[in-house]
Amino acid sequence: MAQGLHLIWMILCVHLICISSQQEIEFIYNGFSQADLYTDGVAKILTKGLLQLTDGSGQKMGHAFLKKPFEFNSPGSFSFSTHFVCALVPKPGSTGGHGIAFVLSASMDLTQADATSFLGLFNISTQGSPSSHIVAVELDTALSAEFNDIDKNHVGIDVNSLISIASTPAAYFSEIEGQNESINLLSGRAIQVWVDYRGGVLNVSLAPLKIQKPSRPLLSRSVNLSETFPDKKLFLGFSGATGSLISYQYILGWSFSRNKESLQALDVTKLPRVPSHKAKKKKPATLLIIFLVLLAIIVFLALGAAYVYMRWKYAEVREEWEKEYGPHRFSYKALYDATKGFNKDEILGKGGFGEVYKGSLPSNELIAVKRVSHNAEEGMKQFVAEIVSMGNLKHKNMVPLLGYCRRKGELLLVSEYMPNGSLDQYLFHDGKPPFSWHQRFVIIKDIASALHYMHTGALQVVLHRDIKASNVMLDAEFNGRLGDFGMARFHDHGADPATTAAVGTIGYMAPELATMGACTATDVYGFGAFLLEITCGRRPVEPGLSAERRYLVKWVCECWKMASLLGARDPRLRGEILAEEVELVLKLGLLCTNGVADLRPSMDEVVQYLNGSLKLPDISPDSPGIGSFTPLVIGSNHNPASPSTKPLSASFYSSSSANDSTFVTHSIVHGHGR
Ligand SMILES: *[C@@H]1O[C@H](CO)[C@@H](O)[C@H](O)[C@H]1NC(C)=O
Ligand SMILES: *[C@@H]1O[C@H](CO)[C@@H](O)[C@H](O)[C@H]1NC(C)=O
Ligand SMILES: *[C@@H]1O[C@H](CO)[C@@H](O)[C@H](O)[C@H]1NC(C)=O
Ligand SMILES: *[C@@H]1O[C@H](CO)[C@@H](O)[C@H](O)[C@H]1NC(C)=O
Ligand SMILES: *[C@@H]1O[C@H](CO)[C@@H](O)[C@H](O)[C@H]1NC(C)=O
Ligand SMILES: *[C@@H]1O[C@H](CO)[C@@H](O)[C@H](O)[C@H]1NC(C)=O
Ligand SMILES: *[C@@H]1O[C@H](CO)[C@@H](O)[C@H](O)[C@H]1NC(C)=O
Repeated sequence: MAQGLHLIWMILCVHLICISSQQEIEFIYNGFSQADLYTDGVAKILTKGLLQLTDGSGQKMGHAFLKKPFEFNSPGSFSFSTHFVCALVPKPGSTGGHGIAFVLSASMDLTQADATSFLGLFNISTQGSPSSHIVAVELDTALSAEFNDIDKNHVGIDVNSLISIASTPAAYFSEIEGQNESINLLSGRAIQVWVDYRGGVLNVSLAPLKIQKPSRPLLSRSVNLSETFPDKKLFLGFSGATGSLISYQYILGWSFSRNKESLQALDVTKLPRVPSHKAKKKKPATLLIIFLVLLAIIVFLALGAAYVYMRWKYAEVREEWEKEYGPHRFSYKALYDATKGFNKDEILGKGGFGEVYKGSLPSNELIAVKRVSHNAEEGMKQFVAEIVSMGNLKHKNMVPLLGYCRRKGELLLVSEYMPNGSLDQYLFHDGKPPFSWHQRFVIIKDIASALHYMHTGALQVVLHRDIKASNVMLDAEFNGRLGDFGMARFHDHGADPATTAAVGTIGYMAPELATMGACTATDVYGFGAFLLEITCGRRPVEPGLSAERRYLVKWVCECWKMASLLGARDPRLRGEILAEEVELVLKLGLLCTNGVADLRPSMDEVVQYLNGSLKLPDISPDSPGIGSFTPLVIGSNHNPASPSTKPLSASFYSSSSANDSTFVTHSIVHGHGR
């Protein structure tokens, strides 16, 4: 009985020893921060738990081993399963190379082994020697012909030699595709490796990180571990090597169990990140991209700013009602370009309404662009309608109005360019040769004809409102052309005190204009003043002259009274003068400037007087209204309600627009006349 008990105890004892020697070793490292590993060479555990086998240097190797040896007794029952995740990152600028191995070795000391194609496992003398006591699963990323490598991206099982007993290109069996999918070991991405050993068969499987363990192993080969490790003791670890081909080689995590079933799966989310060594290489590219993006943003902003600037620079006011005037509408940009950006050198003249610029359209047509500043948007619709209608008036002695453009506070009127400028330059400026009587008489008849057409030729009566020498333009053949119709209402006080708002110019304005407003008779008055002006070569009012000569109408009348009517004529008149014609024009001038509107002739009669088909009525300097001059002067200190800020409301077409008188309510009758 005691013997029996003893036997039982013995059996138990042996069993316990067996169990203890067959230590239940099992571990899992999701990163190696906590791991106590033996490392040598360039191998080390980096912060964040990454096990680095090789760094970026060449001809180097590194080893990492579990410090405790792994022992086994009965070869038959000996088995293990392991799972690890590695990443091989080619050194930037290199194709990357050599490789790593999962090692079972009798000794942890592999410092005498060589790097490069020996993978840190063997040296020239231990290679192929049974005394090496090494079994390895190699992930080889270089083709070493001396070891019969099949390619530079393969997995092999090595027993005491780098000439693998089994090898195959790196791949995994994809359950979804039902076929082998190759794996690029040097992709720099994490790769899972499983090594299973049981019943003398060593299986190796690979898969990318996100893929589950394939059902079929990549390599399956019988290996007699009892034969390689006769001492039944081995160390588990990794080896990595570089040569002239260099990779950063890392192990991210490692799980091990003696029993395939109890192998713990690695937690992929807890694994350390693989450093991106491409970053170094990518840096210039990143900088370049940032630079390009910034450049693109700058260019975009610049273009945007340019667009906004252009929009602002060429901004126009365009309203719905203007659509019908489309053909008469010029774009501001077209005018801007035509006048070379409203260049000062292109200024033809400055009037009471603003500057006039010479311009050239792309069609080579020459134009004159008048910029009229105003601060009245009200009534603009009617004014534009009138301007456009004016443009529709066609007469050989009128300056053709081509169109207009509107901007905020600004109206641009485009007319044909008159090469020889305005008449007043020839009358009053010393630089130009004075005109002969013949030339002047032609111009007089031209202007009479134009005004006659305006008063009677169009569907409605059109008033000019501002007849004077400076509004008479000369074309290439020195024909008179009436221009600037209707502009009187755009007068700006500051620019030219000789012009009044809305009603015209002092000396050309009929006395009743202040109270009755503009009508054809006021135009006739202006024409009369113009007749005297062109014949006498002086302005209707010249404040510098003595009292009796100051007002032209009065003075011509005085001359007539003294029986020397012709003495009033321009002393600079060149060539022959036709006394009857000069006399006729002077008398007609006085007739037209009659202080009593009803006693003035119509333009129809004026034309006939001038062409001789009607005799001038018998008048004397003492006839009623003749030679009476009542100058109208606009108050120079205008208040905010002054005409320039008034809506542009008066109609061009009303022959007796008494309501126009609103424009002259600020006029004061100057005491000079009487
Ligand atoms: C090879 O390694 C062994 C030990 O592993 C060492 O004794 C031997 O000297 C080495 N030979 C060479 C040529 O490095
Ligand atoms: C996959 O590769 C293994 C090892 O090279 C091979 O034995 C197997 O036949 C391949 N399977 C397919 C479906 O190609
Ligand atoms: C090794 O793979 C074979 C199939 O190729 C399989 O039958 C065997 O069970 C595997 N052994 C281990 C330990 O996984
Ligand atoms: C393995 O090797 C040992 C020692 O050489 C031998 O005794 C055993 O029979 C071998 N096992 C197999 C399955 O070949
Ligand atoms: C008038 O215009 C014509 C045509 O452009 C030109 O040839 C001529 O010189 C001009 N005359 C004067 C005096 O400017
Ligand atoms: C003078 O002008 C009037 C009006 O335009 C016209 O009817 C008449 O025929 C002209 N007479 C001469 C002689 O030209
Ligand atoms: C002037 O305006 C009033 C009121 O708006 C109008 O009744 C009158 O007919 C107008 N007079 C003229 C001549 O247009």
